[in-house]
Amino acid sequence: MKQVRIGVIGAGLRSNIAKHWHNPDGDSIVTGVAEIKRDRLTKFKETIAPDCFTTTDYKELLERDDVDAVAILSPDHLHEEHAVAALKAGKHVYCEKPLAITDEGCDHIIKTAEETGKHLMVGFNMRYMRMFQTMKGIVDSGIIGDIKAVWVRHFVGYGGYFYYHDWHALKENTTSLLLQKGSHDIDIIHWITGSYTKRVSAFGSLDFFGGNKPNDLTCPTCDVRDTCTEASPHTLIECAYRDEIDVEDNNVVIMELENGIKASYLQCHFTPDYHRNYTFIGTKGRMENSEPDGKVYVKTRKSNSWEEFSDQVYDIKPAEGGHSGADPVICQDFIDLVLYDKQPIPTPLDGRMSVATGCAATESIRNNGQVVDVSRPE
Ligand SMILES: NC(=O)c1ccc[n+]([C@@H]2O[C@H](COP(=O)([O-])OP(=O)(O)OC[C@H]3O[C@@H](n4cnc5c(N)ncnc54)[C@H](O)[C@@H]3O)[C@@H](O)[C@H]2O)c1
Repeated sequence: MKQVRIGVIGAGLRSNIAKHWHNPDGDSIVTGVAEIKRDRLTKFKETIAPDCFTTTDYKELLERDDVDAVAILSPDHLHEEHAVAALKAGKHVYCEKPLAITDEGCDHIIKTAEETGKHLMVGFNMRYMRMFQTMKGIVDSGIIGDIKAVWVRHFVGYGGYFYYHDWHALKENTTSLLLQKGSHDIDIIHWITGSYTKRVSAFGSLDFFGGNKPNDLTCPTCDVRDTCTEASPHTLIECAYRDEIDVEDNNVVIMELENGIKASYLQCHFTPDYHRNYTFIGTKGRMENSEPDGKVYVKTRKSNSWEEFSDQVYDIKPAEGGHSGADPVICQDFIDLVLYDKQPIPTPLDGRMSVATGCAATESIRNNGQVVDVSRPE
């Protein structure tokens, strides 16, 4: 095979990454798209792949001989159904994060990939960001010693933009937004420390969004749309204060990793700003990033070596492409996996363990903070 022919399931906001796969003269091309909303099919054809096959039934896409691999860009609760069906149809699969919304869903997908012998990749694009690759490299260099503590603060200033105006805000679609958004961060903790989470305890609640507005209320038809602070500025228009919203927007998780590291993850959806602040503390120093400043700071402590004489600031060079340059690179990694069997940075098990940790933390939140063990695949 010289060119991977890609079919896409789900032509929503994330489908913009498909442009990185549509290179008719290169090693990948988008040949088809399945999407239940016809206007999104039309837009996808206009903006991404003008000659591609379109359908509202993803099963028709999977029957096609001109599709070698499928990118699953549908809502989280459909990943299991779509990924399993694609693998069974003989297609390689790129599945957006989170891999699924339950441990069992992830295990089902991974088992099907093993049985069918098809490639499966999880869309952990944060692993491809220069900032987090730099942080991984610093820890692996040993300059801050053995990691013992990790503290992560996730300021989700986009809560009222992307997560409470549509499907994201219901448990049945995501399990929780802690899992939905946190699957990236939990994975980065696992990746940089080289250890999965063993057990968690968590607290969380719905403190800002949700409420008693009718479930069918939309921003354009709302009487207070001119003064409401959460009036949707774009296409996601369901009221952010509607009654059916049942996921938390303020979460605190403490985690013990399998190698004894203590970690914490704090996620809040009504902050004014959007960024992630990670601190890794080791036996010889500590590392912290600032996304707004584009920097990683390393401070060293007494170690009876030359390393204690200097601190360092890494200035992350900007990169072209979505998500700080990560999207074009992760898309190419999927093509290299299919064409050359080159293993990508994240494994399917990584995808599964981040979901399992998010599910365990959600269970803890909804059971008064009790300690919950994170499951391992059987
Ligand atoms: N890695 C990242 O940085 C990143 C960023 C954004 C989203 N995502 C992930 O991408 C996925 C999609 O997110 P989004 O923001 O694009 O959501 P979205 O709602 O904008 O898009 C999902 C699309 O899937 C369509 N769909 C629903 N059921 C379908 C079906 N049965 N067949 C075909 N299409 C169907 C919807 O109509 C919608 O257009 C999510 O899992 C999300 O977590 C990842």
